[in-house]
Amino acid sequence: MTTANARSGPAEGASRLTAVVTGASSGIGRATAQRLVADGWEVLAVARREERLQELAAETGCAVLAVDVTDDESVAALARRAQELFGPTLNAIVHVAGGALGVDPVAEADLGKWQAMYDRNVLGALRVTRALLPAVRASGRGDVLFVTSVAGHEAYPGGSGYNAAKAGEHMLARTLRLELNGERVRVIEVAPGMVRTEEFSLVRLGDAEAADAVYDGVEQPLTAADCADVISYALNAPHHVNLDLVTVRPLAQAAAHQVARHQGL
Ligand SMILES: NC(=O)c1ccc[n+]([C@@H]2O[C@H](COP(=O)([O-])OP(=O)(O)OC[C@H]3O[C@@H](n4cnc5c(N)ncnc54)[C@H](OP(=O)(O)O)[C@@H]3O)[C@@H](O)[C@H]2O)c1
Repeated sequence: MTTANARSGPAEGASRLTAVVTGASSGIGRATAQRLVADGWEVLAVARREERLQELAAETGCAVLAVDVTDDESVAALARRAQELFGPTLNAIVHVAGGALGVDPVAEADLGKWQAMYDRNVLGALRVTRALLPAVRASGRGDVLFVTSVAGHEAYPGGSGYNAAKAGEHMLARTLRLELNGERVRVIEVAPGMVRTEEFSLVRLGDAEAADAVYDGVEQPLTAADCADVISYALNAPHHVNLDLVTVRPLAQAAAHQVARHQGL
């Protein structure tokens, strides 16, 4: 994506823009942290698995912290660390932590999985937003970016709890945008379709063979880097330009449940 002429990201010598990226131990969050550092941002990258975060820190030089977005104390520690690193202001919160658990039909839905998906995707984003929003508001150039999913906009058989959770996160973003209208905080929603990341389908389905089958015959599913590219564009665009809702799918996907598959790919 060409943003060279449109960027309002940090210029050489200017004070650097700052971001907290959740879900940064793998997939889209990790690629986003890498991309924002390459764009010149100062990044605090968080997720639960510290070892993976340390690898990211060694590779990019970003700051990292082990955080569970479903835990109040852990998110309070995140707010303290962000303040230590960046002071009283923060330019962007990038909510990537989340994911799906299972493909159970509604009739056989597992309440525990629904609860966990709601906790991760909706309440996790809410908890982190509440903790960091004062600093984002104080920045004068703030962004709250939610990575939801086409699953939050289109139901599909077996989507059930994930459809509901991502629709909840979508509504959280929409409500926040209305409530912050008139302030210098953009609320951005990026809703990806099929993205082949190393863990999303593995976490959802529980075994590698089933996870691989999700992408069988699909020509070029999106990559985590493709999503990071869109996120980078949205965050670096001039601040009066708000990419309110961006749906991004691979060419092979026309809807959440309609994907062109070819034999022998
Ligand atoms: N892949 C797709 O097809 C796709 C499509 C549309 C939307 N999305 C959304 O994009 C986001 C990232 O997906 P992905 O494909 O990159 O999946 P992924 O590789 O499984 O990454 C999920 C990330 O969320 C973190 N996470 C999960 N629970 C957490 C918790 N309680 N506290 C803190 N971090 C937590 C995980 O790290 P730890 O386990 O280390 O905590 C991991 O870094 C998710 O919100 C997903 O719903 C994915």
